[in-house]
Amino acid sequence: MSGPQAVRVRGGGPQDLAAVERIERASFADPWSRDTLYGELLADAMRLPLVAELDGRVCGFLMAWKVVDQLHVLNVAAAPPARRRGVGTALLLEAARLARAGGLVEITLEVRDGNRGARDFYRRHGFAEAGLRPGYYADNGEDAVIMTAAVAAVLGEG
Ligand SMILES: CC(C)(COP(=O)(O)OP(=O)(O)OC[C@H]1O[C@@H](n2cnc3c(N)ncnc32)[C@H](O)[C@@H]1OP(=O)(O)O)[C@@H](O)C(=O)NCCC(=O)NCCS
Repeated sequence: MSGPQAVRVRGGGPQDLAAVERIERASFADPWSRDTLYGELLADAMRLPLVAELDGRVCGFLMAWKVVDQLHVLNVAAAPPARRRGVGTALLLEAARLARAGGLVEITLEVRDGNRGARDFYRRHGFAEAGLRPGYYADNGEDAVIMTAAVAAVLGEG
């Protein structure tokens, strides 16, 4: 079965490193290193790693930090063949549910100015553009757009 119903989201861990690294490299021109990905897969009081599975295979991930009353989404990607099938949505909704359960009220992230697809994705999920970090990305000097959303808005309650 395809579609959002078939996507399962669970906590990520070191056992997911190979799949996460494959998706990262397929998704970004300037991918995080294996060491960085590994570090973010070690869940702790701050780190929230999630992976999504379609038919039992890891097809996406989300990495975030819990900072005071905010969830900072650091990295999110769906494997290219699994895009537009609800993987990103399932990851974001689970992150929002966990954020709410932990008493967090806002979700924030940075996205490349030129990443229209991701900006549309976040806007669709209740995010608004809250500012710009000029020249934020070291590889090409691209600006970062700061996007924020109330946890309630992401959960469709706003
Ligand atoms: C952004 C990303 C995580 C979205 O994941 P996804 O699983 O494809 O998203 P979903 O299937 O849940 O998408 C839901 C909606 O988001 C919007 N959306 C997603 N990708 C989009 C795109 N490329 N262009 C326009 N809208 C898009 C659409 O409204 C989509 O609904 P639709 O398919 O009915 O039109 C995925 O495109 C990705 O991995 N991109 C590369 C990595 C990246 O840029 N990550 C974000 C870094 S900040």
